[in-house]
Amino acid sequence: MGLFDLLLKRGRTFKRFDFSQLCCDLHSHLIPDIDDGVIDVEESVSLIRQFKQLGFTRLITTPHIQHEFFKNTPEIINSGLEEVKQALIKENIDIEIEAAGEYLLDDGFEKKMQNGGLMTFGKKHILVELSFYSPHPNFKSFIFDLQLDGYQVIMAHPERYSYWYRDFKKFEELKDRGILFQLNLVSLSGHYGETVKKIAQKMIEMQMIDLVGSDMHNQHYMNSYIKAASNKWFHKLLASGNLKNHTL
Ligand SMILES: [Fe+2]
Repeated sequence: MGLFDLLLKRGRTFKRFDFSQLCCDLHSHLIPDIDDGVIDVEESVSLIRQFKQLGFTRLITTPHIQHEFFKNTPEIINSGLEEVKQALIKENIDIEIEAAGEYLLDDGFEKKMQNGGLMTFGKKHILVELSFYSPHPNFKSFIFDLQLDGYQVIMAHPERYSYWYRDFKKFEELKDRGILFQLNLVSLSGHYGETVKKIAQKMIEMQMIDLVGSDMHNQHYMNSYIKAASNKWFHKLLASGNLKNHTL
């Protein structure tokens, strides 16, 4: 049961935030059983139904693509996407959904780049993430090579990279290089703890955030996501006019 249903069941009046102004969510794990996101197609459909109720008209789902753990390929991802699309048709859920990837900048990334066929969206936008322990020693050259090839690089959840918290210049350098920063909205509702929440607020204050994403994995994420809809920092970000979700 989703948060909406729970609130309705308890007879509480609840004004839903209308996410249609964002139009598009660009970061989620909605393809069954290929990463640490949804387990089956039912879970996927349930979350997508809730996205639709929130006002979204387009979803770009981004399974993990890694060298060691989630060895997803475009073929695996597109086949899973087809399964989800068929289930949505069956359930009469009308929403645009496409797939790309959340690329970990790891030992295998360079080869994927050289082979071509990277999964992108929008105007050659590519979503990349760094390890949570330490960034790959060559991550900057990977990013700059992508930029030279005309990709628009989006850094997923910069607020979660704790190794740079005491050295914010590292974030600023990436921004200066034209990399877009995508905040996980759930960071603002404390989904990853108080420190991440504070860093997310600081990045909003410093006008560093270009895009917001759900990073949706399961119902627990959805509940945090809905909670963040009323967060004053999210509204500050919306009012800043910096968000580019609708341009993708
Ligand atoms: Fe993710």
